[in-house]
Parts: sequence; C-alpha cells; structure tokens
Amino acid sequence: MPDAYILGIESSCDETAAAVVRSGEQLISNVVASQIATHQPYGGVVPELASREHLRAIVPVVRQALAEAKHTYESVDAIAVTQGPGLAGALLVGISYAKALAFALDKPLIAVNHLEGHIHAVLLEERQKGNHDLQFPVLALVVSGGHTHLYLAAQKGDSWTYENIGHTRDDAAGEAFDKVAKLLGLGYPGGPAVDRLAPHGDPRAVKFPPAQIKHRDRRGRHDGRVVDEDDNRPRFDFSYSGIKTAILRYVEAHDMRATVEARRKALLNIAKPKLEDYLANCDKLTLDLVASFQRAIVEDLVGKTLTAARAYDVATLFVTGGVAANQELRQTFEREGAKQGLPVYFPSRPLSTDNAAMIAAAAYPKFLLKDFAAMDFSAEAGLLLK
Ligand code: KG4
Ligand code: ZN
Repeated sequence: MPDAYILGIESSCDETAAAVVRSGEQLISNVVASQIATHQPYGGVVPELASREHLRAIVPVVRQALAEAKHTYESVDAIAVTQGPGLAGALLVGISYAKALAFALDKPLIAVNHLEGHIHAVLLEERQKGNHDLQFPVLALVVSGGHTHLYLAAQKGDSWTYENIGHTRDDAAGEAFDKVAKLLGLGYPGGPAVDRLAPHGDPRAVKFPPAQIKHRDRRGRHDGRVVDEDDNRPRFDFSYSGIKTAILRYVEAHDMRATVEARRKALLNIAKPKLEDYLANCDKLTLDLVASFQRAIVEDLVGKTLTAARAYDVATLFVTGGVAANQELRQTFEREGAKQGLPVYFPSRPLSTDNAAMIAAAAYPKFLLKDFAAMDFSAEAGLLLK
C-alpha cells in the first residue's frame, strides 16, 4: 500500500486545527490556533464567538499546516474533518471548508468522530515510536472538557469498533476542572492552572463525599459496578457535579468570596500568568482546596477505570483527551497500572488536547476501507461513538 497523506481539519470546540499525517503513523505537521484569549473574559467557551473565530482562522491554519508539511492542496490524498460531537456552529465551519476543498480538488472526504480522534492520537504516537504491537482488547478513557467516556476498542483488519462501558451522568471531568477554577478565580481554562497549583497544597486537607450515582434503569452492585439489565454487561459511570457543589459550599462556609474576587481581578490583568503569579495570589486554604479537589477527581477516574479494566480483562489502557495532560493523573495511572501489570499509554501533551493530527490519523483506516463521506453529510453535535 503506497503512503497516504491525509489533511485533517478540527473545529469542534475552541481550537481551530489542521494537520498532515502520513498513513496514520507519522505526524508531518500539526497547527493549532487556540481561542483561549477570546473566551477567557467569559470564563468559558461562548459558542457564537467560537464560530466567528473558526471562520477567521480556518484558511490560514490549513495553509500553514500544508506549508509546514511541504505539501500543497493538490498533493494530499484525502481531506478528513471532525463531524461531531461538539458545538454545531463550530463544527460547521470545518465541515463546510473541508467539503469545499474536497469538491474543488476532487479528493475523497472522510468524516471523523472527535472521540475516535482522541483514541487515535495515542495510536499515532505509538506507531511513530515504532510500537506496532499493542495488545488488545484496549480500554480507552477519553477525558476532556466535554467528555468522560470509557470505550472498549477493538480492531478487525482495518475496521475499528468501540463499545461504551461508562460515561459521565452530568459534568465531564474537564468541565469540573474549569468550573472549580472559575469558582476560585483561577481563570479559564481551569485544568492547567489547577494542575500546576495542586502540588503546592495538601491533597488530604479537604474530604469530599464519593459521587452518588443514581441507577434508574440498572441494578446497583456491592462493588460499585452497575449492570445493564438488557445485556448484563457491567457499566462504570462517572459524576462530577456533586464535587463542584461541595466546593461552592466550602467557599461560602470559609468566607472565601472576597479573596476569590481579588484573585480573579489580579490574574485577569496578567496576560499569561506564570506559576509565581498564581502562587502570589493564593493562600493556603485555596491551595489545599485545589490539591484536594484534584486528588478526588484523579482517584475517581483511576479507580473506576482500573476496576473496569479488570472486569473486562483488557490488555492495554489508553488515557486521552485534554485532562490526560494532567500530571497527577498520569503519575497515578502509571503507578496503579503497573501494580496491575497493565500498560498505560497517553498521548504527548500537545496531542492530548484538541488537535487535527488525531483526526487525520483516525481517518486513515477509513481511507483504506474507502469509507468516504457523501457531500451532503452534516455536523452532528451529539454524535455517538460506536
Ligand atoms: O480535549 P480538549 O482540548 O477539548 C475537549 O474535547 O473538551 O480538553 C479541554 C479540557 C478543558 O476542560 C481543560 O481544562 C482540560 O481539558 N485540561 C486539563 C489540563 N489541560 C487541559 N485538565 C487538567 N489538567 C490539565 N493539565
Ligand atoms: Zn476533545
């Protein structure tokens, strides 16, 4: 099979990204234009602003990805684009541009699920390192600002299948990082700030009650697993809205509002706050709260994922998505995975958060199968991964 160079385009949330990847195994270029500065004053992604920024960035970002790869519009073999899940208006910008390119250049168009992209970020980098014999079945934790999912991933020839065995019932883990950071005046996005501050606090200072998951249609089990009554397969769901409320109550009970507001204003005046800036604006109470929050999330994610790995007897674990950039999460997964004899793989930090290399990589098996998208396919904000 000759090499295939796929141009990937990603615009599902607040990053406009384009990349060229060779045959799903070599990253040739990877350009990400972040909209953080646009959304920062609002403490979260504003969908209308996201679409506008994607419109502004999409042409130069694709041009740069091609130039850095020493490719032209004509020289790539296919165009791949994120179909969903994500913000409908944001997705549409990438999809419309990808369709126009594919039509004008007469190239195949490939629609990719963003979540499948996060899983293929790991595969791309492992292949690039020369690791071609990952053991299956694989359990993948996709943990980001919009998602907390557990998938069993299997490969038959060039075809991939995914079975969801757990998801969040309310907030995603990254969303909890962002909301808690906002509550504590730490700015947006919250994950990276909490990650850097947590080692400076006491993770045992504040105790949070374990997440309560109500099982409407499933029977609870003594070991925390739930069994889907239809097919008797255990499920491992997550819930992070409770811990966010607990932190809100803690802030109120400890009269932290004035210090939070002062911190928010001080940090807003610094274009790119450094660790010293955060530390200069955080007291011990805040640092302990941040450290305890992160520990609680990490223990929940690692604990449930490893229990699921045992229940499904998987051979390999992937941890991917924006939150997979978290230092404590990586270290804990590596330590606890090693205890179970389970190899754990993460993408590098640049490929953990949203990017288009993962979209181009996930498109390669579809390219081989000639699984091309029709010109009239549309964005699917709630697209599931199956
Ligand atoms: O994968 P991603 O770029 O976008 C989505 O698909 O949602 O993930 C972004 C999320 C944000 O919630 C951000 O706060 C979180 O990932 N994040 C982190 C870290 N870096 C990004 N969370 C914890 N620790 C980090 N180092
Ligand atoms: Zn993502």
